[in-house]
Amino acid sequence: MDDLLARDRAHLIHPQHDRAACDAAHVWVKGEGSLLTDASGAQYLDGLAGLWNVIAGHGRTELADAARDQMIALGFASGYAGGSNRPAIELAERLAALTYRSINHFFFTSGGAEANETAIKIARSFWKIRGTPGKTKVISRELGYHGVTLAAMSATGLSAYWPRFEPRVPGFIHIPALSASELEQAILREGADTVAMFLAEPVQGVGGVVVPPDDYFPRVREICDRYDVLLAADEVITGFGRTGRMFALEHWDVEPDLLQFAKGITSGYFPFGGVGISDEIAAALDSEPTPWMHAFTYSAHPVGCAVALTMLDILEREGLTARAAAHGAHLLTRLRAALGDHPHVGEIRGLGLMCAVEFVQDRDTKAASPAAEKVGARINAEAQRRGLFSRNRADIYMLAPPFVITTEQIGQMVDILTESVRSVLGK
Ligand SMILES: Cc1ncc(COP(=O)(O)O)c(C=O)c1O
Repeated sequence: MDDLLARDRAHLIHPQHDRAACDAAHVWVKGEGSLLTDASGAQYLDGLAGLWNVIAGHGRTELADAARDQMIALGFASGYAGGSNRPAIELAERLAALTYRSINHFFFTSGGAEANETAIKIARSFWKIRGTPGKTKVISRELGYHGVTLAAMSATGLSAYWPRFEPRVPGFIHIPALSASELEQAILREGADTVAMFLAEPVQGVGGVVVPPDDYFPRVREICDRYDVLLAADEVITGFGRTGRMFALEHWDVEPDLLQFAKGITSGYFPFGGVGISDEIAAALDSEPTPWMHAFTYSAHPVGCAVALTMLDILEREGLTARAAAHGAHLLTRLRAALGDHPHVGEIRGLGLMCAVEFVQDRDTKAASPAAEKVGARINAEAQRRGLFSRNRADIYMLAPPFVITTEQIGQMVDILTESVRSVLGK
């Protein structure tokens, strides 16, 4: 592995590039179910399903076969207006039946940030077509993560993603995560005639698995309707079963106007994503006499669409959404039993198979530990040493394994995390 890392150092710049982290990296060579193997032969439980995306687990030959067959039949063809392909047509049809009732039209991308960029541009287009071109602003939430292209980064509410890339795109406003009245106040403050959309993850993922109270999204929907603001749900993590429902706003019986997805739709085997578009917005786009100049070369990539179709077969055939719900409930129960009383555990939370443990200095006041103590990073390092690979954000440790994880592997994850916490923070 040392040789590979030396060659990596010589030529690769990584996402979230960080010299020290790169020097201590794993070079992954194999995946099977919920297990990853690195070049030294060591095996790890994949605690975050790759980057929340490998929902069907590693080593699925069926997905490889779908990609291979499509590559041989037609590896690429333009999806620009005037061209289409069979897998894209079938996928859009299938998603229309699977997603929220009002979402029946789809634009495909290569990932989540492109999906959010597209949603932002659709919202701006929609209001221009409607004759209210001043509605351009985007309200999103603190702790929200929407990707790192410039507009998506500007919507992202985690300030660590900004400093080296300022200035951000103007007209992006952040509000606290869990209070719907903050949304109404922000719309009134900015002026409803300037606000295009509210963009939110149903459950914030990267921010630390932040689950809203049950009345949050119903109130958000009402407020968006009252002020003519589009509701765009970033379901890049929560889509395709992660929270125990096919799409997460189903938990609260709310429908968005735009639905961004990526990750799980191909289980990470092919870079793919998209935006689901309401009938009303699609009709507006259809009504224009001049072309809508938004496009990616790889929009509606036939191979991505073929892999997604096979992934949807797997999801349905194996009842993976129900498995995410059951495994998630089990994981949360096990985590609470093992760590719920620990003096430095502030909260253990989750919905479906996305969970987080938040470490604090003082469990009663929930006061954070000094950042210099790097509690979350040290616990993560200990967990890795014991064979569990996942991610922390500050002092929040996150777990969102593949839906095919076994009950035994959930037990192993909880045991490893518990030992790691004890080794860093004591009993
Ligand atoms: C909720 C959410 N939106 C958007 C993105 C960005 O997706 P991508 O990295 O595919 O651009 C992510 C990635 O983690 C995400 O979690």
